[in-house]
Amino acid sequence: YLNCLTPKSRQEILDILITGLKRLEYRGYDSAGVAIDGGNDGGIPSYPINLIKMSGKVQNLVDEIEKSKQQLNFNLEFKTHCGIAHTRWATHGEPNWVNTHPQRSDAESQFVVIHNGILTNYKDIKALLINKGYEFESETDTETIAKLLHHIYEIHKGELSFRELVEKTVQELEGAFALAFKSTHFPGEIVVARRGSPLVIGVKSPMKLTTDRFPVVFGKDHRGSGYIPTPSANHEEMSTLMTNSNEQVIEYFFASDASAIIEHTDKVIFLEDDDVAAVSNGQLSIHRLKRGVDDLAHRNITTLKMELQEIMKGSYQTFMQKEIFEQPESVTNTMRGRVNFDTNTVQCGGILSYLKEINRCRRLLFIACGTSYHSAIATRQLLEELTELPVMVDISSDFLDRQTPVFRDDVCFFISQSGETADTLMALRYCKQRGALIVGITNTVGSSICRESHCGIHINAGPEIGVASTKAYTSQFISLVMFGLMMCEDKISMQGRRAEIIKGLKKLPEQIKQVLELDSEVEKIARDVFEKQSLIILGRGFNFATCLEGALKVKELTYLHAEAILAGELKHGPLALIDEKQPIIMVLTRDPIYKQSLNALEQVKARKGKPILICNEEDGKAMRNTNQTLIIPETVDCLQGVLTVIPMQLLSLHVAKLKNCDVDCPRNLAKSVTVQ
Ligand code: F6R
Repeated sequence: YLNCLTPKSRQEILDILITGLKRLEYRGYDSAGVAIDGGNDGGIPSYPINLIKMSGKVQNLVDEIEKSKQQLNFNLEFKTHCGIAHTRWATHGEPNWVNTHPQRSDAESQFVVIHNGILTNYKDIKALLINKGYEFESETDTETIAKLLHHIYEIHKGELSFRELVEKTVQELEGAFALAFKSTHFPGEIVVARRGSPLVIGVKSPMKLTTDRFPVVFGKDHRGSGYIPTPSANHEEMSTLMTNSNEQVIEYFFASDASAIIEHTDKVIFLEDDDVAAVSNGQLSIHRLKRGVDDLAHRNITTLKMELQEIMKGSYQTFMQKEIFEQPESVTNTMRGRVNFDTNTVQCGGILSYLKEINRCRRLLFIACGTSYHSAIATRQLLEELTELPVMVDISSDFLDRQTPVFRDDVCFFISQSGETADTLMALRYCKQRGALIVGITNTVGSSICRESHCGIHINAGPEIGVASTKAYTSQFISLVMFGLMMCEDKISMQGRRAEIIKGLKKLPEQIKQVLELDSEVEKIARDVFEKQSLIILGRGFNFATCLEGALKVKELTYLHAEAILAGELKHGPLALIDEKQPIIMVLTRDPIYKQSLNALEQVKARKGKPILICNEEDGKAMRNTNQTLIIPETVDCLQGVLTVIPMQLLSLHVAKLKNCDVDCPRNLAKSVTVQ
């Protein structure tokens, strides 16, 4: 949405929308679409709404827009304009034209909507609307919203504002959503709403904002419950409050992720569940659908620390490559200001005041999905050792499926790069309801998990754009190690172990650089395996998480079947897979279970298996003649996984390139999975 002092042409408006979509493409890239006003009534946009949609990546949409130039006057200028655009990760219906967003209420696009999330009651609403004579063109849950809004409009024509109509509509919805609406009946207006899916507002003002708080208007629940009088501040006052000026010079941007906004402004407002925000006559207002116990009368205007260059590829071919090679800096940033290498102390401000409570708990639960789950597996043994507490590690969806018992004296950690993963967020709310202490380990300041946690650690890895998680994993790993170190600071018996780990942490960035130098060796290995059918990755103890994470990276990026096998389990079945043709990678480092790992290696060799070894120098030298080896610098046992995972990240990258797979946007996936 734009509201400018200097009118902007339609071309500029489209450019802003498309650049925003490109920044968000990593979140979903099955199809993309845009809705902008077609007409111009003295600088105010008017009828009709133009919908342009294409399946595939945003570039396809850009090409299609070029073709529409004949029908649309691209030089028309607007003082006020709102356009909406969407890039989709398909949940309901394949990514063709009709299923692509924006979805419309009717052929004239009286109401159009874009949606992030999933509705759970759309079938009931759809049945009701079909009964009323509505005809549906798509298989999406989202089309139901546009048609329901139209239906409500027909009932209340002329009585209600656009925002009020949207409020009535969203009160009927169940499930998760972040929505943005526009309508031919309300030109130049936009209404957005959220429940369960993230939504952020960027505020760009040429003058310094004079407040860091934006007031919330409490409204009436249309079902009649809980009427709360509207506070006195009206829209104009708010604008004045923000800029000390009555002139309408503020531009607003609504997005599901701050990366779409950062090149325009670093001032943002994160909306809460059941917030509805509207821009009408160039003024922003934020409303509550219903009043909750913890409701604040304002939303903070936050200044983002993100830099544009952090979300650009720079000289790298792909974001994933950039993020792998950034790891010496990202792990340094994770430890910066927290680990004191002179005094052997660790202080993470976000959990410091909760440490006593955590130390008194019954058990620690670590709950996450995918790569984030692997970071908990990677550190479980160390956390058991340092905290001397029972540690449970669970996959969010499975944790919920089992309705796992949770108690008031449990401490539950939710690890999530995006901070928005629906399964993890639901598990968080489940544990919070049961009275447990909630700790968030996230990479995204202002994310839902971050805001709904009692305390937490920001992993500070910087924005991660590549869909496959890499630098977030190593930073999550280190954040969990730092937590373990904080928990045993006063235990005399642990001082030797703490000192050794902290010394290890200090050396890690340099050692990561050394591992990254293996890039061309890893590429050679990629050439050997890229045409194979499957890959086994073998390891145990501290290194098993590397096998799991390596197999996930290979699967998601290269579509090659890869399986992590716990070396101790080999003889209980998987050994049957081993022969001279089966590609195997084995992670083998000098740790307390080194002998057992060697046994597994012998078992594989006895079946003519020829594993590629990720190992330390001594073994590398000894086995160079019999096996391909990737030599990893030696560090303390519990940190070895930070180094052994990097060749696996590089391998998946190179295999994907050799197979011509899209490295940053693997098929069928999305970066932030905000649906259950
Ligand atoms: C794999 C990957 C996913 C995510 C998972 C959880 O490379 O990126 O497995 O780790 O979807 O996402 P977050 O950490 O955002 O909760």
